Amino acid sequence: MDVASLPAFPFIGPDDNPFIPVKGADLERLEGPVGKVRLPFGGWAWLISRHDDVRQLLRHTGFSSDQYKTGFPILNPIPPKQEDASGLFIFMDGEEHSRFRRMLTAEFMIKNIRRIEPLIEETVVQALERMREIGPPADLMNEFALPVPSMTICHLLGVPYSDHDFFQDHSRVIMDRNSGPEETQAALGALAGLLGDLIKFKRATPEDDLLSRLVVERVDTGQLREDELVSLAMLLLVAGHETTANMIGLSALALLEHPGQLDALRADPSLAPGLVEELLRYITVVRTGLPRLAMEDAEIGGQQIKAGEGVVAMLSMANRDHSVFEDPDDFDPKRREAHRHMAFGFGLHQCIGQPLARAELRVALVELARRFPNLRSELKLADVPQRPMAVTFGVAELPVTW
Ligand code: HEM
Repeated sequence: MDVASLPAFPFIGPDDNPFIPVKGADLERLEGPVGKVRLPFGGWAWLISRHDDVRQLLRHTGFSSDQYKTGFPILNPIPPKQEDASGLFIFMDGEEHSRFRRMLTAEFMIKNIRRIEPLIEETVVQALERMREIGPPADLMNEFALPVPSMTICHLLGVPYSDHDFFQDHSRVIMDRNSGPEETQAALGALAGLLGDLIKFKRATPEDDLLSRLVVERVDTGQLREDELVSLAMLLLVAGHETTANMIGLSALALLEHPGQLDALRADPSLAPGLVEELLRYITVVRTGLPRLAMEDAEIGGQQIKAGEGVVAMLSMANRDHSVFEDPDDFDPKRREAHRHMAFGFGLHQCIGQPLARAELRVALVELARRFPNLRSELKLADVPQRPMAVTFGVAELPVTW
């Protein structure tokens, strides 16, 4: 096969409109709903784009998420395998994966998330009032969208107030796209150190938070090692940060681009849950899709996939599938089928943090609408700087005024 002639993936062509996940020209180059694409670091993979086929793929146990397996379709540079990355279950399969996932399921149930909702509100309000002090104008990404998720994780884990600044400063370095590898490594080490000390502290004096419960129920009972708990906590921080931050930023931008939407939300905050589902569908921040490696022969969407071949589940295309969503390219907050989106993935690895992400988005948008009735973007849509190469799609900055 002539790999060089295949369409290059990820599709990174700059587009004036950040809300068009795949340009028409890229769509035209695809062989069909299941077609081959050329990967950025060599080789090729099947791109799966229909809603039904993505569901079929993501619940199939014959596909691996382990990016260190030979032949895995690599979409972004990956760091060398770390010996202490023992709890990163997002990259694990089978029993190994479910062992960790099971330990967190109850923690992320809606009733538990409701308990920290007052803390989410406090975090959101504090960030917004700080933005007010700084501006106008102010960068909504930096002052609002980025701090809210890491502060929320602080509350969830049970990081004491005295350590919040330390936690925030180091998470900021880890999440900052401009940090060099050494700086990032040092910040990861510092955070792991803080979490390690915190776990020891919670062992002696358990409180009402996620770390304490996992210490008492899992570490003390011998089901989980302390180092595994540290890397589990780091996974929660990393997986929940960029995704939620970019969703908050892009949601604000989408609402500013659709006049009347922020006013409608201010007048009736009960619109928020439906609005959030449509924003998740319309934006789909995990734009490069979910890569998997076939461990056995399988058939997806009528296509034979052989063991050893790579596949990519294109969530953003599935979320614009005409057979599920009417006029899928329209942003319609009243869309009844919006909840069928797959912005959180599907099946075995479906996002465990989704109740938390939904709560953060809901509170963030309601308070933004309420506290900034005259919010406007400083830039035209085409001029808002995008981050097309990132794992999670987003805007680099969002200057706003009010
Ligand atoms: C809008 C925000 C978010 C989006 C769009 C999002 C998206 C996703 C997606 C697409 C996956 C599936 C990955 C795969 O199948 O390979 C995933 C998994 C995961 N997410 Fe999220 N996520 C968000 C927020 C969060 C938050 C707030 C947390 C936790 C604090 C979180 C924790 C996780 C974890 C631990 C996994 C791995 C689950 C597993 O492998 O079983 N996410 N997320």
